[in-house]
Amino acid sequence: MTDQELLDLAFKALENAYAPYSNYRVGACVLCKDGKTFPGANIENASYGATNCAERTAIFSAYANGYRRDDIEAIAIVCEGSTMASPCGICRQVLSELIPGDAKMILANREKSMVTNIEALLPLSFGSKDLQ
Ligand code: THU
Repeated sequence: MTDQELLDLAFKALENAYAPYSNYRVGACVLCKDGKTFPGANIENASYGATNCAERTAIFSAYANGYRRDDIEAIAIVCEGSTMASPCGICRQVLSELIPGDAKMILANREKSMVTNIEALLPLSFGSKDLQ
């Protein structure tokens, strides 16, 4: 799958965002090594802290369907803002545990995109290794 195809799936997922409070719609799509994809969107709540970000929705869906860290090849995260989508701190922590450090992360808005990975976005992360 091309980067553009994965971005297209993430923008399609964005259409399902439930964001009545922020009106900031975010979409994501996880690509697994076997070609399976898992879309996600942000799902807000009147109790704001209960909101789930798009990338967590997507990665939790992959895990809920039996996929694990080493099965994951890439994730695209997109928004409609003037700046490219950028995962929040909670999502960076979650992704650092659930996807490989070098898995491709494509961040985009309607105008531009960039490729990075979670190791670059959250260096020196706290994780399971610290609890052993
Ligand atoms: N949000 C995401 O879904 N992903 C991000 O990477 C950043 C923020 C959502 C959460 C909330 O619904 C809205 O954007 C505004 O914070």
